[in-house]
Amino acid sequence: GLKYFGAATDSPGFRERAPYASQYPKYDQIMWKSGEFGQTTPTNGQKWLFTEPERGVFNYTEGNIVTSKARKAGMYLRCHALVWHSQLAPWVEAKQDWTKDELRQVIVSHVTNVAGAWKGQCYAWDVLNEALNEDGTYRESVFYKVLGEEYITLAFKTAAKVDPKAKLYYNDYNLESPSPKTEGAQRIVRLLQKNKIRIDGVGLQAHLVAESRPTLDQHIDAIRGFANLGVEVALTELDIRLHTPANATNLAQQKEGYKNVVGACVQVKGCIGVTIWDFYDPFSWVPAVFPGEGAPLLWFEDWSKHPAYDGVVEAL
Ligand code: XIL
Repeated sequence: GLKYFGAATDSPGFRERAPYASQYPKYDQIMWKSGEFGQTTPTNGQKWLFTEPERGVFNYTEGNIVTSKARKAGMYLRCHALVWHSQLAPWVEAKQDWTKDELRQVIVSHVTNVAGAWKGQCYAWDVLNEALNEDGTYRESVFYKVLGEEYITLAFKTAAKVDPKAKLYYNDYNLESPSPKTEGAQRIVRLLQKNKIRIDGVGLQAHLVAESRPTLDQHIDAIRGFANLGVEVALTELDIRLHTPANATNLAQQKEGYKNVVGACVQVKGCIGVTIWDFYDPFSWVPAVFPGEGAPLLWFEDWSKHPAYDGVVEAL
């Protein structure tokens, strides 16, 4: 059985949510009071851009909005994300002539302060997010360009020291069926294990597409590939977008997609939880990033439920 089924959520007034203020009471009721979700993840507030916008200037305001509600609601909390090339503060990215030592200090300081701010509160931390290209090679982020693989070991080593109770995860997308990228992620797990640095889990973001979803067996194989290395697995950002408008066909495909991916997690020992990346379609990140696609979550704009809601219930 899973430890949790949860939904990520953002701070009120932030990004996608801003134009929908009139829907907040209904939203908050389902998010925090209905018992639908046993876990949450702040979708934005703990990212580098918001937590260390200037070097050495730390701000936990946005992150705390969600994490304190999670605590009051008695939910599991996944914390997201310490080291990532995207939504990175411009001061890190703009400077390409970091010396190795300077950039090491920047990483250690960021991880120490931010993981320290939520010490003991996170069931898991996404220590490293999206470090891989689709072919399994490392993404040429500022961190990789300056430090190579060492930035990875340094981030996990530091997080392990700061928060001994949090499970430390590598998190990425397109890890839900076997591919060169899943092999790259396995290489990261083995790199840390070989160096005796703690890694506890791999997060499969699971940003999927209804019309071209993987099969149940592909999901099972991918999850097993990680579990066999002795780490746990979670679906960390599940959504299944479709080409809009929604119709009976793509909603049925979406339902099957949810049923298969959640079902795979339930069936493989070592897959411990599922998080959907918000639950209300208007608050999804998808339409802004994938034009022509949307409706990826479990509640439509008018608050009726997707057929996929039943797909999840059937899988659990
Ligand atoms: C997204 C958020 O949902 C958006 O609000 C934000 O504008 C961009 O980031 N992979 C991740 C998440 O690890 O942090 C991203 O979240 C979605 C893709």
